[in-house]
Amino acid sequence: MNITKTSNIKNICCIGAGYVGGPTMAVIAANCPDLIINVVDINIDRINSWNIDDLSKLPVFEPGLKDIVEKCRGKNLFFSSNVEENIANADIIFISVNTPTKTKGIGAGYASDLKWIESSTRTIAKFARNHTIVVEKSTLPVKTAETIKNILLSSDESLDKNVKKTFSILSNPEFLAEGSAINDLQNPDRVLIGGDDNYAINLLVNIYEKWVDTKKIITTNLWSSELSKLVANAFLAQRISSVNSISALCESTGANIQEVKEAIGSDTRIGNKFLNAGPGFGGSCFKKDILNLVYLCRYYGLNEVAAYWEQIVQINLWQQKRISALVIKNLFGTLSNKKLVILGFSFKANTNDTRESPSINISKEFLKEGAELNFYDPKVEKKQILREFDDFKDSKISVSKSALGAAEGADAVLVMTDWEDFKYLDWISIYKVMRKPAWVFDTRICLNREEISNIGFNIWTLGRI
Ligand code: NAD
Ligand code: UDX
Repeated sequence: MNITKTSNIKNICCIGAGYVGGPTMAVIAANCPDLIINVVDINIDRINSWNIDDLSKLPVFEPGLKDIVEKCRGKNLFFSSNVEENIANADIIFISVNTPTKTKGIGAGYASDLKWIESSTRTIAKFARNHTIVVEKSTLPVKTAETIKNILLSSDESLDKNVKKTFSILSNPEFLAEGSAINDLQNPDRVLIGGDDNYAINLLVNIYEKWVDTKKIITTNLWSSELSKLVANAFLAQRISSVNSISALCESTGANIQEVKEAIGSDTRIGNKFLNAGPGFGGSCFKKDILNLVYLCRYYGLNEVAAYWEQIVQINLWQQKRISALVIKNLFGTLSNKKLVILGFSFKANTNDTRESPSINISKEFLKEGAELNFYDPKVEKKQILREFDDFKDSKISVSKSALGAAEGADAVLVMTDWEDFKYLDWISIYKVMRKPAWVFDTRICLNREEISNIGFNIWTLGRI
């Protein structure tokens, strides 16, 4: 690739100060001290939280994020609600806004809702000056770049009618996983850049080359880049649904999912990563991106392909249903007058994000059965947990500051998130304060089964008898 100078690029604006925009721009700022980076958002509370003095209260919890924000904020990294001015000053604009599943209208329940993409694009069309590179950082359906181009080129909202504006559109999807975002951004497996303007591609490549090996920077056409992001998430989720489906078969046959995982994962063609059985994948991406892929397949008349991928989401829901059902069965078939402890509310360890957390669906099944629930999560705030259960006003729901506090008088403890802390809880004291028989349901296969059983607990572990 013909590498050009980055000197043309001085000012970056990122629209969207969320889980992706904040950490991604912080890592660019840390690696490119000569660039000025403004992260903007229409959510003023979110911007205020990014500017907070107490760095332990940043809106996103990610290991390592605090240190980078401390180093760069106010020097070359700024968080602002002044969207217009920062767009006007930018040479490159990353669009990193939310793209959730549509809840109404055509494609509801499957297609991505692109209204935030459209509104940011219209704002860019209005306020950008001269030549601007617009980068899709959000995860988008294939061909969205065409829509963005259309809006940018046909908009008549420009403030300055005398200046000819031009745009290049690139796709640069983000592959970070929450909980390891900083490491993923600092040491990515690859950076993917799609586009048809080599000059713009080179400018973006040059930014990443400040810390990423050039061999890891893949360039493609726009559509391959947009599609690869959806496909990467679909393949990852597929592995989880595959291993979860087999966890059920292990429970029926006496095989042990951990042993099966090791046996198949040591085949280098299969590989040993992403084979942990659990209560089903959560997070803001997998379900939404697969449903989007399903929608696209149907749109192009590929109904069999759509059905194939949709099954990944179906198995995920089924895994959650079967776990809640077997807990109820083991607790003598009824949860009325029973108290259950839900350990972990984030969708995975090391994040405070609860979007699509398996704890939500499973807890709702228990509430429908009349259970009292007590939650403990090391990082998720009480109000964020309670917000999920607005429809259960008559249920008894509380949130404790410790696992032991939550266990007082409880009949069962469910380990729902793979927080490292849960392995090292004082299980003897927890047992003492619970009603007997006391149950532990380990949906993350993270506890020492023998130790827990020796204390006196009945223990159920996913994927084995
Ligand atoms: P988020 O909801 O945390 O953040 C999006 C932010 O964009 C919000 O704060 C919102 O207020 C802001 N916003 C929306 N419209 C705006 C506008 N017109 N102007 C200014 N700000 C606006 O979302 P996220 O988790 O950061 O995800 C962003 C995108 O990245 C999505 O497409 C998602 O699929 C993708 N993605 C997410 C992850 C992840 O782990 N969360 C990983 C890879 C890719
Ligand atoms: C995912 C992708 O990994 C990332 O590349 C993409 O950019 C965004 O979506 P994320 O959702 O943040 O990242 O976390 P991930 O580690 O993928 O976990 C997703 C869910 O799958 C979590 O609920 C996790 O607990 C679960 N999981 C993951 C398993 O159940 N088993 C595994 O082996 C791995």
